Amino acid sequence: MVTLQEIKDDPEVLCYIEMANVHLAEMGYTEHGLRHIGIVSGKAREILLQFAYPERLAELAAIAGFLHDIGNVVSRYNHSQSGAAIAYNILTRMDMPYKEVALVIGAVGNHDEGEGEIVNTITAAVVLADKSDVHRSRVRNRDYAKFDIHDRVNYAVVNSQLLVDGSERMVTLDLTIDTKIVPVIEYFEIFMQRMMMCRRAAAYLESRFSIMVNNARML
Ligand SMILES: [Fe+2]
Ligand SMILES: [Fe+2]
Repeated sequence: MVTLQEIKDDPEVLCYIEMANVHLAEMGYTEHGLRHIGIVSGKAREILLQFAYPERLAELAAIAGFLHDIGNVVSRYNHSQSGAAIAYNILTRMDMPYKEVALVIGAVGNHDEGEGEIVNTITAAVVLADKSDVHRSRVRNRDYAKFDIHDRVNYAVVNSQLLVDGSERMVTLDLTIDTKIVPVIEYFEIFMQRMMMCRRAAAYLESRFSIMVNNARML
């Protein structure tokens, strides 16, 4: 059984993840490094465990969460597809069973809100964990005058938590947005497509997705 720990200890994985983050920094993108994938990996696992899915499926979700953005080493464009191809090579080298490889590469290849579809359980978990990681600490641009809308919205999110309630089958994105920086509508302007994908992902897990902004329920 390939474990998340083996993936985390793999020099090829670590090198591509680090370089993906370097390439994105060159383009002025927000942080996509070990902090981001660590959160996505942990949350994806937590979601499935809270909803009483088998432990191995939760481990696969954690692996897919760790690998989901590795394709950024090739290009931001279609990074979910290139990431799935890279993950395929790594996981087959590690002798992961084909069925498990199929689930993981399906999740990596479908995590992007542009063309991704919720094709299996671990995809749903990775999507919920990934789309909800919006936070001030991800902004790398240090010059506020040069902030684009993504920087502004991420910067305005001073606190974000994804709360998973297994008994109520609820996934709640709880955000604190500094409205002196952006009005709440700007958050939805850029993240509407992501939030819609989260709704579909939660429905796939027979649960509901809810958004709280500054203690008010938006969804
Ligand atoms: Fe991504
Ligand atoms: Fe991501």
